[in-house]
Amino acid sequence: MSKRWYQDNRRDAWRRIARSKGYRTRSAYKLKQIQERFGIIRPGDAVLDVGCHPGGWAQVAAEEVGNEGLVIGVDLLATSPVEGASIIIGDITEEGTITRIREILGERELNVVVSDISPNLTGRYDTDQTISLELSTLVLDAAMGFIPPGGGFVTKIFQGTGIEGLVNAAADRFSNVQRYSPTASRSASSETYLICQNRLPQPRTRGRGKSAMEQLQEHLSELGVVIEQDVDDSKAKVGFRRIAKREEE
Ligand SMILES: C[S@@+](CC[C@H](N)C(=O)[O-])C[C@H]1O[C@@H](n2cnc3c(N)ncnc32)[C@H](O)[C@@H]1O
Repeated sequence: MSKRWYQDNRRDAWRRIARSKGYRTRSAYKLKQIQERFGIIRPGDAVLDVGCHPGGWAQVAAEEVGNEGLVIGVDLLATSPVEGASIIIGDITEEGTITRIREILGERELNVVVSDISPNLTGRYDTDQTISLELSTLVLDAAMGFIPPGGGFVTKIFQGTGIEGLVNAAADRFSNVQRYSPTASRSASSETYLICQNRLPQPRTRGRGKSAMEQLQEHLSELGVVIEQDVDDSKAKVGFRRIAKREEE
C-alpha cells in the first residue's frame, strides 16, 4: 500500500475520532496531545486562541480551563458559538482586535496564548512557509502584550527557511522552548508546534528592546532573504523573497 494511502487513512482516522467525540476538527486532537504532553493550560486559566475557526481548539481549551476559566477565540472568519468561549471576528495583527480582547478580559490576565494560525495557502510551499512564519511571529509579538511572567505560548510553524529566527526570538522570551509534532498531524507534514513555557520577567539580552518581528527580519537578512511588499499572487500584506547575494550588492 502507498505511503500516501497510509497517510490519508491515518488523517481520516483522527477526523473520525474527533467527530465521534463532538470536536469540530481533527486539529482539536493536536491541542489535546500538546496538552497531554506539556500541560500548558491549567484549570481556571484565561486562554486566547488565535486563528480559532472553526472552533476545535477553542472547544478543547474551554474543557481544559473549566468553569472558572475564560477562553477568547479570534479569527478573520466567523466561528459558530463554542460553549465556554467568547469569539471575536478580527485580524490579530490589528490594534482594534487587541482592544476588543482587552475589553473581554477586563481585569483578568491571560495565562496562555495558543495559535494554530494559518494564512490563505497559495499551494507553493516556499511562499506559504514564509508567510506563515511571518504570521506566527506577529502572533508572538501580539501575545507578548498579554502574557504575564510564567505564562505560556504555543504556535504552529512550518519547517523551512528562517524558522530559527522565530525559535530564537521565542527562546529570548521564555525559559523553555521546544518543538513538538503531535501524532494527529500528518506524518509527512512539515507542520510542527513551538511550545513556549514560563515567560521570563524580561527578555534575554539578545532580544531586549526588539520585537520578535525585528529579530526575525535581522535573521532573514543574515540569510539573504528580504521582506518585500505586495507579493503579486499572494493575499498576504507582506511576503518574503530570497535574494541572491549579487542582488544585495
Ligand atoms: C488551521 S485554521 C485553525 C483551526 C482551529 N485550530 C480549529 O481547530 O478549529 C487557521 C485559522 O487562522 C485564521 N487566520 C489567518 N490569519 C489570521 C489573522 N491575521 N488573524 C486571525 N486569524 C487568522 C484563518 O482564518 C484560519 O481559520
